[in-house]
Amino acid sequence: MRRKIIIDTDPGQDDAIAILLALAAKDKLELLGITAVAGNVPLELTTKNALKILEVAKETNIAVFSGCKAPLKRKLVTAEHVHGPTGLNGPQLAEPKIKQQDQHGVDFIIDTLRQHPEKTITLCPLGPLTNIASAIIKAPDIVEKIDEIVLMGGAYFEVGNVTPAAEFNFYVDPEAANIVMCSGIKITMMPLDVTHQVLTTKERSQKFANLGNETGKIIYHWVKYFKKFDEEKYKSDGAPLHDPCVIAYLLKPDLFSGRKINVRIETNSELTRGMSVADYWGITDEKDCPRNVNFMRHVDDEGFYQLLFDYLKKLP
Ligand code: RIB
Ligand code: CA
Repeated sequence: MRRKIIIDTDPGQDDAIAILLALAAKDKLELLGITAVAGNVPLELTTKNALKILEVAKETNIAVFSGCKAPLKRKLVTAEHVHGPTGLNGPQLAEPKIKQQDQHGVDFIIDTLRQHPEKTITLCPLGPLTNIASAIIKAPDIVEKIDEIVLMGGAYFEVGNVTPAAEFNFYVDPEAANIVMCSGIKITMMPLDVTHQVLTTKERSQKFANLGNETGKIIYHWVKYFKKFDEEKYKSDGAPLHDPCVIAYLLKPDLFSGRKINVRIETNSELTRGMSVADYWGITDEKDCPRNVNFMRHVDDEGFYQLLFDYLKKLP
């Protein structure tokens, strides 16, 4: 039985590789649809990028929906300085021929959860949590229907990447992140603590180029563009492949390890806006601070990349 998933995303080169991984693993994952959210770049571009990614994989029957164009309460903050003005800078990709669906992404999430038996769908947010939180606000009954949320976001020991305190996805829409964290839904979180361990080193980048397919060459050029920001900031060899950690977890969870802890999101302070306050050492009282998140802290990075190469070489 394939695992049914919805990917909520703000492509972004790392989102793109996560989506391609999910498409390559269609023997294990049934991608019910892709909902775009404003994040790395504005909504119009994240939606178009999702369509482009499907055309790279020649999977043009997957439905793409446009979701929220701004955070719940805040002005949108984007990341063109990391991903480029299109959000998918690197290779030249043609304008997509396929079209997005008319339905709003939030309504697609709600309707799909209501139409399936409960606890049969996993939500995979790869960007700000605006769509997910909006769906919970609009239709609280879906909380009981969601099997699990496996998301990329937050940080603790690794601290922030957009401010000294906060990771980008949670920073853009801290109110949405807080709603999801407090929802009671089973959550597995891929924070920077894990994603910063899976760097696109020169050797690994070359392996993408040598996959033997057009997809590998496109990924190579995405990585070549996307890694500049992190290499300059952290003086690292390569950049973290954040979002593919979510899909890799679905395919091979034992690549990752962490613990069930309490995570709360800062929504009041401007200094620490969006900070994920993770009680990793269990010092809060479980009665007041429930262990609401499966917080991943370690990953087998070689095993992660071998999984990526093994699956992505199956694509066109
Ligand atoms: O902080 C990393 C996250 O922000 C990733 O999901 C990346 O795509 C951006 O959305
Ligand atoms: Ca993303």
